Amino acid sequence: MSHLLGIDVGTSGTKALLISTDGDMISSSTRVYPLYTPYPLWAEQDPEDWWQATIGAIRDVLAESGVGPKSIRGMGLSGQMHGAVFLDENNQVLRPSILWCDQRTAAECDWITGTVGAERVVELTCNPVLTGFTAGKIIWVKNHEPDIFARTRKILLPKDYIRFRLTGEFATEVSDASGTALFNVRDRKWADEVLDVTGIPRDWMPRCYESPEISGRISNEAAGLTGLRAGMPVVGGGGDQAAGAVGNGVVESGIISSTVGTSGVVFAFADEPVIDPQLRVHTFCHAVPDKWHVMGVMLSAGGSLRWYRDTFAECETAVSNSIGGEVYDILSEQADSVEAGCEGLIFLPYLTGERTPYPDPNARGAFFGITLRHSKAHFVRSVMEGVAYGLRDSFSILDEMNVPIHQVRASGGGARSAVWRQIQADVSAREHVTINVDEGPAFGVALLAGVGTDYYGSVEEACRATIKVVLSTAPDDTNHALYSKYYEVYRNLYQSLKRDFAAVSEVVRFAG
Ligand code: XUL
Repeated sequence: MSHLLGIDVGTSGTKALLISTDGDMISSSTRVYPLYTPYPLWAEQDPEDWWQATIGAIRDVLAESGVGPKSIRGMGLSGQMHGAVFLDENNQVLRPSILWCDQRTAAECDWITGTVGAERVVELTCNPVLTGFTAGKIIWVKNHEPDIFARTRKILLPKDYIRFRLTGEFATEVSDASGTALFNVRDRKWADEVLDVTGIPRDWMPRCYESPEISGRISNEAAGLTGLRAGMPVVGGGGDQAAGAVGNGVVESGIISSTVGTSGVVFAFADEPVIDPQLRVHTFCHAVPDKWHVMGVMLSAGGSLRWYRDTFAECETAVSNSIGGEVYDILSEQADSVEAGCEGLIFLPYLTGERTPYPDPNARGAFFGITLRHSKAHFVRSVMEGVAYGLRDSFSILDEMNVPIHQVRASGGGARSAVWRQIQADVSAREHVTINVDEGPAFGVALLAGVGTDYYGSVEEACRATIKVVLSTAPDDTNHALYSKYYEVYRNLYQSLKRDFAAVSEVVRFAG
């Protein structure tokens, strides 16, 4: 039997996943690391942490499975998108990586848009320049840390830094490159005009592949550190959303995924680079060669529930630790104990600003409608409902764009909780199905490695062979009708609070 390896360099940890070429799970390990927020709205990580976690997770799966490195045909890399790693002439990391959820670059994004031209940016990159995207981070370093900018020789995305450590190659692939605001998404190559006009040297950008293509091979040094076979192929892989979509079988028209991880993403396959005229959803290259995708991205979905857990669920965490259980199961039970709509308690999930449908770095979280009747159970349920309302925003935009939606595949932590899955189905009035694998992006890139090493003839064939629908959650019409009324209020709340969000951010900036 031969095997495939997938690595996902996530925001909370790096996961290594070993599967058989037929898609059976063999072993998985996740090594975690910290996220640093030195100032409000900043988010950084140390690329060395990713690398140590990658080595550790690979060694774990090899040791746990007993699989010999020779039987692994190839590996794929996935990771959190948009982050920038700055390397000097000796390929040393110059500063912590600035991450996808960092919101410091509003002024730089305005400058890039003004310099390239608002319409031209969209013609070239298919998207607006958003604070999460990579380009603003590079210009921020130019403006605020000119010494670092002067010493920079290469810029890499998070998973591509790991590729560099594994293979010595400076390479990326089209799906992750799409999220830099420096990439011509229509033509699937770097947008030289944007690089020229913004003064970012073309040779700082890595070589770009299609996702299943072989981008390099494991070096002798990396083989020594990880236990992998020197010379093993490493395929392009994908940004975590495109890779997760492959892992969910979202590789044909009509199949949509709704993923509640740290972020919340509604992801649709597209044969062409279709663009929302209001630019509320992203249009990126898919990890399927010559295909695209459209996606709405909420910045704090599962992240909102994690924040709730860390901030308010100390007792629940202690109880779950003492019985060896999972704190999210207790939170789900609490959420299930109160009625749909939480008697008017509504949560706005904008804990790290927002992207879809409001690209607003100043947006903040809020609980609205608190009364004496509200208990902790209402609060936890309202977090789940608020996230589902945010996902509904993305569904509505896809409807407006006439993107076909025949089936919604729910995935991520938000799909594991039956109550949260039901809330998502009820709020959107769409049946949500789950599939036989729940391994996310790491599974997707392992399949891409199967394509790149010729075990499968295409990404579609790999998905058909390994992915099956196993469970379906149908929407409840009564709950949907109630949620639709609350959804109206939810939408109005952002409009009412928008100016106050900006004002409070200004005060915080001033106070800091
Ligand atoms: C996608 C996005 C997030 C990150 C982290 O545009 O910003 O999904 O990739 O998961």
